[in-house]
Amino acid sequence: MSKSILITGGAGFIGSHVVQLFVEKYLDYKIINLDCLTYAGNLENLKEVENASNYIFEKVNLLDVDELRRVFEVHQVTDVIHLAAESHVDRSISDPLAFVNTNVIGTVNLLNVAKTYWRDLQDHLFYHVSTDEVYGSLDHGGFFTETTPYDPQSPYSASKAASDHFVRAYSNTYGMKTVITNCSNNYGPNQFPEKLIPLCIHNIKNNRPLPVYGKGENIRDWLFVVDHARAIDMVFHKGKVGETYNVGGFNEWKNIDIVKLLCQKMDEKLGRETGSSEKLITYVTDRAGHDMRYAIDASKIQNELGWEPSLQFEEGISKTIDWYLDNEDWLNSVTSGDYQKYYQERYK
Ligand code: NAD
Ligand code: TYD
Repeated sequence: MSKSILITGGAGFIGSHVVQLFVEKYLDYKIINLDCLTYAGNLENLKEVENASNYIFEKVNLLDVDELRRVFEVHQVTDVIHLAAESHVDRSISDPLAFVNTNVIGTVNLLNVAKTYWRDLQDHLFYHVSTDEVYGSLDHGGFFTETTPYDPQSPYSASKAASDHFVRAYSNTYGMKTVITNCSNNYGPNQFPEKLIPLCIHNIKNNRPLPVYGKGENIRDWLFVVDHARAIDMVFHKGKVGETYNVGGFNEWKNIDIVKLLCQKMDEKLGRETGSSEKLITYVTDRAGHDMRYAIDASKIQNELGWEPSLQFEEGISKTIDWYLDNEDWLNSVTSGDYQKYYQERYK
């Protein structure tokens, strides 16, 4: 095996697409998926690669340093792609400490174990996957670039910003080879239905209210998850060490327009009368400290590495809806039990 890559958070939404891409494309790499399987982690996401000879799963929590050390030793980890995190802004508002634990302390644990285990830091790469939310909210126009000052506004983005700073500190202080990508909102198959798009797909399917925060005018830039995984592949192999790359879809939408698009597409797909799902739209109390607009200038990764999104949004949304409609068992299993409790408390 030429590399032994530890991918953390590989059972989550984005991580599972990254694991699948690497396992299928790089048969000479050993891919170790380290994940503690929180509510957001699901091994069903990895059905297509679970029996591959170059893939192995390790159920480990980032807070368990002894277990992290064991994984590095047993698998002789050469590189890390770090995705494991608490990722939902609303949960960060009700339980910030969980985000400090996993996103900040968990990341520092991983950096420490890598630094100790890797004898010559020049032979190894620590790739940290982050978010555009660290840059704050674009209330007066413009785009986030790689030099936009950090200005996180939610407990989630504050914890991700802290983890980014620790990764840069390990590069600067210890000479660890690192790279960071900050990506905009992802959508696609396997996303847990607490996030806007899969939550609305699930609710439209079941004729339940579609909760739109505030006036629905907040803007996000959306990228199909497989295009994010392709970007991670490119940056891992061709990115300049020590650099940051912003990844985005060149695709800004107001929330309300996305919800209406989902309603329209699902009316067509489910053979419902045009306009019937839109009646489910319900404006609810705004999220505390709700960032108004995110927008990414992704010209650096485009110009330097030749990456660009492969899918138009309407095509990606259509594929995404089809996936959720075709994978009813997946959707039913993740929305039973604890999800119901979460949903009642959040949207009561
Ligand atoms: P997710 O919530 O779907 O998955 C996170 C995964 O991490 C889960 O499998 C979970 O079990 C695992 N995990 C959580 N805490 C852990 C711990 N303490 N130890 C081990 N494993 C743990 O998240 P996602 O949406 O796939 O996001 C993945 C990464 O990408 C995160 O770092 C996130 O900040 C970043 N990101 C996400 C988006 C997005 O739109 N979803 C956009 C940009 C960046
Ligand atoms: P989300 O998918 O949670 O991603 P993020 O907060 O990381 O951008 O939310 C996307 C947008 O949709 C955000 O502006 C909040 C809004 N939103 C709603 O209006 N209703 C909802 O039920 C959810 C979950 C989000």
